[in-house]
Parts: sequence; structure tokens; C-alpha cells
Amino acid sequence: MDTTLFTPYRLRSLTIPNRIWMAPMCQYSAAPDGDAAGAPTDWHLTHLAARASGGAGLILAEATAVSPEGRISPYDLGIWNDTQVAAFRRITSFLKTQGSVPGIQLAHAGRKASTERTWVDRGRPIAPDEPHGWTPVGPSALPFSPESTTPDELTEEGVRAIVQQFADAARRALAAGFQVAEIHGAHGYLIHEFLSPHGNHRTDGYGGSFEGRIRFALEVVDAVRAVWPEELPVFFRVSATDWLSENPNDDREGWTSEDTVRLAKEFQARGVDLMDISTGGIAPDARVESGPGYQVPFAESVRDATGMPVAAVGLITDPIQARDILAAGKADAVLLGRELLRDPYWPRRAAAELGGQVTTPVQYHRA
Ligand SMILES: Cc1cc2nc3c(=O)[nH]c(=O)nc-3n(C[C@H](O)[C@H](O)[C@H](O)COP(=O)(O)O)c2cc1C
Repeated sequence: MDTTLFTPYRLRSLTIPNRIWMAPMCQYSAAPDGDAAGAPTDWHLTHLAARASGGAGLILAEATAVSPEGRISPYDLGIWNDTQVAAFRRITSFLKTQGSVPGIQLAHAGRKASTERTWVDRGRPIAPDEPHGWTPVGPSALPFSPESTTPDELTEEGVRAIVQQFADAARRALAAGFQVAEIHGAHGYLIHEFLSPHGNHRTDGYGGSFEGRIRFALEVVDAVRAVWPEELPVFFRVSATDWLSENPNDDREGWTSEDTVRLAKEFQARGVDLMDISTGGIAPDARVESGPGYQVPFAESVRDATGMPVAAVGLITDPIQARDILAAGKADAVLLGRELLRDPYWPRRAAAELGGQVTTPVQYHRA
């Protein structure tokens, strides 16, 4: 029986105790304003700690905004001030006591920003003149959906300021005790908006050609890598496809899996250690393909084409399925999202089923 799932994974000087990792998941549970805005709360501690006690080797905290305007909702986590750093430090310290590695996803939601929590009015846009609303920014003045506020098009100076915010956020994340920095370049967030011709209609050096559209992503990677220690890894989450160009029934031009492979090669040369391969999110009406492990082939193709480490995510729910993804060399680790919400002890369950081992709290040694 292949037990790769339960073996440690080393990236630079960091050892992650197993290959079952928690995917970043927004909780929309931070204060929207006041001194503690964007700071993690007891909810975040409980939510993340439960999965660490459950045995996940790496805990990726949710999309955490590099600036107030970078939050997708007013209730997002942020890492733009020292109050937030102190609150995160409590959580990262606890995760480490459970043997898990704490990671953070650094994010800017771009034109998708200023929306309600997903369970309130289905996450409707909050208009700039409503309480807690603001005007989002994007590569181009193109709204995400017909209901969304049209974003302000970023100037080149504005783009450079956000690159700096990513670097500042990474420095704070390190001070907060995180050991993995993941850059959120997927799901129609700002970096993805720049990458995709669907979101980026610019005619300056940050748009147009493939090289122009990836420039912002490369600058963010360079800025984060410059402040993130040599001995710790940087991940990049990408939407391998927008599901536009790759859908024969959709004539809109988008970001493709071939683009993703080209981008990964650029990142490889710039010190990105692992590609976290997701899909979708640039357009509300793109037809998304789904089903068990539906995104795994995209992870596999990046791994095959570049030799880079990759994590696969998306409807990975069954221990045998997870084991087989790794055994077949399709990915180096699996990220679980909703299945870990349903069962924080999934890693323990998988270990029992497959004959492996994960760290269990000493307090539970008789269970
Ligand atoms: C409640 C919830 C919140 C999410 N928030 C984020 C996020 O903050 N950042 C991100 O990159 N993906 C986010 N996702 C996507 C997940 O990380 C994951 O890629 C997706 O749910 C597919 O994996 P699954 O089928 O195991 O849930 C979220 C998903 C859910 C269900």
C-alpha cells in the first residue's frame, strides 16, 4: 500500500510532516472596521486549530488581504497592520504545537472586492456608497459581473504600490510566525485579472502580450521572494484555466492551461517553490467542469512540463483517491477544502484506512 500521503515533504529547509494539506478558505468572520478590523478572532483560531489537531500537515489560512481595499468582503482577514500580526501570532504558535506548518495566502481581490459575505444575499456587491462599501480597483475598468461596481483602472503607480503591499504583507506574515507564503493568483483576484485577457485590456506595459499580462505577477513574486527568507518556501495559487478559451462553446478569450505552464517556468526561475493548481473565477458565467478530482489533470500537466512541485485541489474527498493521486505522480500533495470542513479528522481517518500515521494530540491518545 502506497503511504506517500503520510510521508514528510521538504521544501527548502522546511519539513511539512505529511502531504494532506488544508486549502485556504475565507471565513468572512473578521471585524469590518475599528481597531481590530481584519484581525483573526477566536473563530479563526478554532477553525484552523481544529484542522491542525486533526492532523493536516500544512494549514493554509484563508485569503488574507494586503490592504483594506484588497478584501473581497469587509469581513476578510488582513495583514496590513501590527494588530493583525499579533492576533495571527497566537494562531501560528498553536498550530505549531500540533505539529502542523502554518501558511498564509496573501491576497488582493481586485475588481471582485467589496461584496457581502457569501451567506448574505449570496455575496452581492456592496456599492461604494453603502456602509462598508468601496470602489474596487482592477487592471481595466471592467466590472466582474453586470451587478458589480465598475472598478477604477489602476495607474502604473497604483500597480507598483500594490506590489509593495504584497512585500509588506509578506514581511508581516513572517513576523506573525507563518512558514509558507502563498500568493493568491487565482479565482479572478487581482493577479489573475492581470494574467487573463478577459480581465486585462490594458495597452501599457502591464497588458497586451503574454509578457505584459504576467508582469504584475512576476513583480509580486519578486517582491515577496525578496523579503521571504531563503530557507522558507513561496507557493503560488493559479487558476490553470479560466474555462473560456478551453470551452469550445465560449468564444471569449481567456487564460489557458498552456499559459499556466509558461508562467510556471517563469516562476521556477524566480524562486517559487510550489504551484497550487486551481481553476476558474474570472467570469461569473463561465461553464466550469467539475467532478471528483476535476482539477488534478492541470496539476499533473504543470508537474510534467516543469518538474515543479505541485499541489492538487478540488473535490478530493476519499483517502484512496488522495493516495492514488500521489502514487501516480500527479501531484506532490493534496489540498482539501470542504471535506476538511465536514471532517477535521479526515487525516486521522485516512491514516486508519490506509495504514499510515499522522500526529494526534497527546490528550487524545486513548481514542
Ligand atoms: C468556504 C470556502 C472558502 C474559500 N476561500 C478561498 C480562499 O480564501 N482562497 C482560495 O484560494 N480559495 C478559496 N476557496 C477554494 C478552496 O481553497 C478550494 O480550492 C475549493 O473549495 C476546492 O476544493 P474542495 O473541493 O476540496 O473544497 C474557498 C472554498 C470554500 C468552500
